[in-house]
Amino acid sequence: MKVLGIETSCDETGVAIYDLRQGLISHALYSQVNLHREYGGVVPELASRDHVRKLLPLIVQVLQEADLTRASAAGEGGIAGVAYTSGPGLLGALLVGASVARSLAYAWGIPAVGVHHMEAHLLATGLEDLAPDYPFVALLVSGGHTMLVEVSALGEYEILGETLDDAAGEAFDKTAKLLGLPYPGGPAIAKLAESGREGRFRFPRPMLDKGGLNFSFSGLKTAVVNRVRELDLDAQTRADIARAFQEAVVDTLVHKCVKAMRSTGFNDLVVAGGVGANRQLRECLAEGMDALGVRVQYPRPELCTDNGAMVAYAGCLRLSQGQTDEMSIEARARWRLDELAPPPQSYGDS
Ligand code: KG4
Ligand code: ZN
Repeated sequence: MKVLGIETSCDETGVAIYDLRQGLISHALYSQVNLHREYGGVVPELASRDHVRKLLPLIVQVLQEADLTRASAAGEGGIAGVAYTSGPGLLGALLVGASVARSLAYAWGIPAVGVHHMEAHLLATGLEDLAPDYPFVALLVSGGHTMLVEVSALGEYEILGETLDDAAGEAFDKTAKLLGLPYPGGPAIAKLAESGREGRFRFPRPMLDKGGLNFSFSGLKTAVVNRVRELDLDAQTRADIARAFQEAVVDTLVHKCVKAMRSTGFNDLVVAGGVGANRQLRECLAEGMDALGVRVQYPRPELCTDNGAMVAYAGCLRLSQGQTDEMSIEARARWRLDELAPPPQSYGDS
């Protein structure tokens, strides 16, 4: 069963084809970062317009890479379903992907399914060899979300903790802006932090020993703002701040992961979302989880950030277990992960 996946929730146009037997067949991504860079962040209207421009050419490219044409895609052995990100995200941007996906499914006479963006992120390790079995804990760290989730099965998610204010990626992006670094801030801070000196600054680790498994990053941002105001921002100082900021975020994330693994007793931790590409986080988590005997897994870096492959994969799992959505197009700017349910055929399994 081949599923075409379409991701347009933010500033990346992602398209992919996933096959239940063969795995990931083709995927393509167009990033809008250069478009948004001069504004220092994503401009929703510009994002929607660019998805409109890029989506169909990417679909054609992905079909070609899968040896499919417009005609053969609709036939035997062609595309059996279309999955699209239906939320959460920028509404206009989501509607571009949803409209194109729904229309293609109608034209091809096949089902379509709307996928939750964070479910797609947390399942993305399934695209790799040696994916963990359920149950596992997922740390989702992206530009819009930071949460720890207990994953019991497809569609069975309990949010163990989440950020009460800024997401981890958002904190990276805002701090980068303060330091005069380009958007997106995460990779820029990580690079600058490499030349930062240890110990010159120490920023707070908010809610480390309170708030259970919840996070808060806005106090950290304020601490950085205050520091930046009182200092002469020469190149070395900026690098020192970047290093101390990254250390504070990484420390907090690792600390909460340790707590989550202890409280669930699970042996597998999956990390996904853009901040999961951070090298420092990976090194520190490896150390922390090793000590607990917990296996940590990530999707390959290109599948940590937004992409069409994770949407094709999550959609394929749901379609192959009997889920199909109505003809009406659905897109939701806000959508909690724990509102999801398992697909129909998994009820009564086992
Ligand atoms: O998952 P993602 O691509 O999009 C959302 O769904 O938000 O995550 C994007 C976020 C941005 O905030 C970006 O700054 C951050 O992930 N990011 C990183 C790194 N690469 C991307 N943060 C820290 N270190 C990185 N290497
Ligand atoms: Zn994302």
